[in-house]
Amino acid sequence: MDESLEQFLQSHHNLMPIRYSYSEIRQITKGFKNKLGQGGFGSVYKGKLRSGRFVAVKVLDKSNTNGQDFINEVATIGRIHHINVVRLTGFCVEGAKRALVYDFMPNGSLDKYIFPREEGGNCLSWGKVYEIAMGVARGIEYLHRGCDMQILHFDIKPHNILLNDKFIPKVSDFGLVKLYPVDHSVVSLTAARGTLRYMAPELFYKKIGGVSYKADVYSFGMLLMEMVGRRRNANPFVENSSQIYFPAWIYDRFNQGEEMDIGDAGEDEKKIVRKLILIGLWCIQMTPADRPSMGRVIEMLEGPLELLQIPSKPFLYSPENMGTPKNASGENGAGPSTVHDESGSELLLHSTSDSLEIIPLNASAD
Ligand SMILES: Nc1ncnc2c1ncn2[C@@H]1O[C@H](COP(=O)(O)OP(=O)(O)OP(=O)(O)O)[C@@H](O)[C@H]1O
Ligand SMILES: [Mg+2]
Repeated sequence: MDESLEQFLQSHHNLMPIRYSYSEIRQITKGFKNKLGQGGFGSVYKGKLRSGRFVAVKVLDKSNTNGQDFINEVATIGRIHHINVVRLTGFCVEGAKRALVYDFMPNGSLDKYIFPREEGGNCLSWGKVYEIAMGVARGIEYLHRGCDMQILHFDIKPHNILLNDKFIPKVSDFGLVKLYPVDHSVVSLTAARGTLRYMAPELFYKKIGGVSYKADVYSFGMLLMEMVGRRRNANPFVENSSQIYFPAWIYDRFNQGEEMDIGDAGEDEKKIVRKLILIGLWCIQMTPADRPSMGRVIEMLEGPLELLQIPSKPFLYSPENMGTPKNASGENGAGPSTVHDESGSELLLHSTSDSLEIIPLNASAD
């Protein structure tokens, strides 16, 4: 495609992503030279358009994605424009080859900043944590209510929150998005999907209630807890066994009138931390109806701390022992579904009549 045409399309045709040929994708990524990461659906490469703009090109593995998922993703994201949602600028469908071209986010994904490899590493200030939480909440709220269709993400997690040069968060990765008409508040999933640690209990356990936008609220809550805890919510390697599950531990502390110890932070920072924890605890309530909507979450984030109550203790559940997941018909019963574990490895959830087995599909993933 010639440069002026590409530039024209980029600037005048902002509504729909540009279609590229596979050889153009190869040029953009300089032969897939610079790999940014690997997810459950394929690999992501850094690329540069002729205009000089940097992009991230996600090349989908045809082995673990189907054509319909891809088409859904393009059709959905192409229509989505919000400061807190990553923009899809192009795509490629050529035979079995499929790729998605996104705006490049120079600061990468949020996991780098929540779980810095070394202690005292590159942590975000509490003010920044608050701003990012706010941006992510706005992005999800837009997906839920801001477009003409309700878009449920189902894979909200730190890896899918990207940060631009100014650390403005962008919700990314709509590979798992399904579109539902807005008036259907409860949907039945064709398969339980998502990433284990952030997945709402109703995705596994039918008795909890129908699957709705509240599943994203739950994942957002788990994300919030990790942003504040600066650790994984479930961590068997902590010194004190009462701290293994961070939400339960912090809940007990709050209930005893104690605070989270954040060193010599000032009053404002302490307020932010307390507010984020309380909102997180509301979002991870077991019963979907007890969780706030994302609109309400934004109000809580903006409103005074004093108005926030302590919710009920979030029930500690583990998908491994929750019984049978839903299958294609939305009923309990045999039938495999795929999810990702914490490292992004794909797992097969295979339900038998009374137990749930979790089988790693690609044990080689890191
Ligand atoms: N637009 C982008 N700009 C910069 N880096 C990106 C962009 N998109 C993805 N990445 C990087 O590539 C990595 C892999 O992304 P990918 O979406 O394939 O996997 P994931 O988010 O870890 O898991 P999942 O497949 O569940 O989304 C991300 O963790 C992120 O660091
Ligand atoms: Mg992703």
